Formats: sequence, C-alpha cells, structure tokens
Amino acid sequence: MSMEVQLRRLTASDILARKGGKPIVSLTSYHAHTAHIIDPLVDFILVGDSLGMVMHGFETTIPVTLDMMILQGQAVMRGSSRALVVVDLPFGSYEESPEAAFRSAARVMKETGCGAVKVEGGARMAETVRFLVDRGVPVMGHVGLTPQSFNTMGGFKVQGRDDKGAARVKADAQAVADAGAFAVVLEGIVEPVAREITAELPIPTIGIGASAACDGQILVLEDMLGLSPRVPKFAKRYGSLAGHIEAAVRAYSEEVRNRAFPTEDYVYKRKT
Ligand code: KIV
Repeated sequence: MSMEVQLRRLTASDILARKGGKPIVSLTSYHAHTAHIIDPLVDFILVGDSLGMVMHGFETTIPVTLDMMILQGQAVMRGSSRALVVVDLPFGSYEESPEAAFRSAARVMKETGCGAVKVEGGARMAETVRFLVDRGVPVMGHVGLTPQSFNTMGGFKVQGRDDKGAARVKADAQAVADAGAFAVVLEGIVEPVAREITAELPIPTIGIGASAACDGQILVLEDMLGLSPRVPKFAKRYGSLAGHIEAAVRAYSEEVRNRAFPTEDYVYKRKT
C-alpha cells in the first residue's frame, strides 16, 4: 500500500461550514500552471467566465461558451489537488429552464470533475438553484452586479445604492440561500448592504467589490497580479506582472538581436 498521504480536496460543504468563521480566500484561475501556484493558498478556485475578457479579449462575458468553460475547467482540475474548484455556467447555458441548467451543470461536472458550479441571478434563478441542488449539483450563487446581465443592467453598475436597489439585492441573496446554494458571491454591492446580507444569510458571502464585511473575498487573478490593462476600483493590485513580463521580453529580444542568446549553457552538445 502506498505510504503517500492523499489530501482530500475541499468540498462545497467545507466552504459552507466556514460561515462566520475564518475568512474564505478565493481567486480565479483558467490554467493548469496558475491553478498549481494558487492551490495551496486558497480555499476555492473559480474558473470564472471572466476568462472571456481576460484570456480572449471580449468586452463582456456574454460570448463565452460551455465548451470554453469545460476546457479551462479541465486545465484547472489538472493543476490543482486541494482547493474546491467551482466552474461558472456561462450565459445561455442555464437560464432557459431548470432542465437546461441541469444538462449544462452535469456536463461541466462529468467532463471537468469540478466540485460545484456557479450561476448568476437571484430570485429569478431560485427555482433553478433548487432543481440543481436536489439533483446533486452544489451551487454557488452570484448576485448584485452580475456581468452576464450587462445589456439589461445598462453596463457594469454598482448595486444597492438606494432603498429599492438595496431591497432587491437583499431579496436576491436570500432567495438563492433559501434555494440551497452553499455560498453566494456578492459583486459590486455597497458596503452597508453587503454587511446586512452577510449578517442575515446562513451561507457564506464571498465579496468582490462588496467590502470586508463578507465571509470571504475573491478577485480575478490577472487583475490582482497587475496583468490586466484595465481593472475595476475594487481590484487591488498585489503585483505588477505586466511590467515584469515586458522587462523580460525586452531583455530576451535584445539578446537575440545581439546574438547573446543562446549561450553554451543552453545548447545541446554532441556525444564525445
Ligand atoms: O467570472 C468571474 O471571474 C466571476 C468573479 C468576478 C466572481 O464571476
């Protein structure tokens, strides 16, 4: 028998159990290599449909397809072994009916091996969330600023600024919690409303532009690494990778042009 100790991957239940406890840490990843780096440092990795904007240069997440999510979900699963991996259901793959959502979620779970899916939308998606959870699909909700609703929201707009908006976003968060979601992302929500939702909900809230009052935080990896050209106000830069990449590529191109690379160290020799 192997003496190797296999660490169990975190599950949706482990994340649910963290309600009100130690803050939950999460980041997005779309690749095996970045997933491998962040895996020991985060509680869950989101294969977000933001990959449409970050990897493919789309203006919104709307063009992203289920096949794109599955391909990157597989890469992240190969690169990680400890964190829970959550994969976004993209626009058009789940809104039509609970049955359509189940078919998409089942494909994602079978073909990637991930532990949960995320769907955007509050009260309007509650029936679907319940349908998925009852059939063995752990669901993370996502309310407030929901990027897939870019066209109906009239842009990427902060939510909960007035009484009507605050009541709507609270009702949305409550609806997905009542429907059985194990956690909910609160995106672009004013601080007092995010605080009240976090206090009222029995499930963890994961904030992105929703203040430190939430039970956990998520950022898009490329935004916090300083790789994305434009970032929203809430995306603190913890690194400046774009500058490092530019400096490295500049040094490489100069060395190639001067025939300074490759030196002996990087060249294969004949057998003597
Ligand atoms: O797609 C994504 O990256 C997301 C996060 C911003 C929460 O949904």
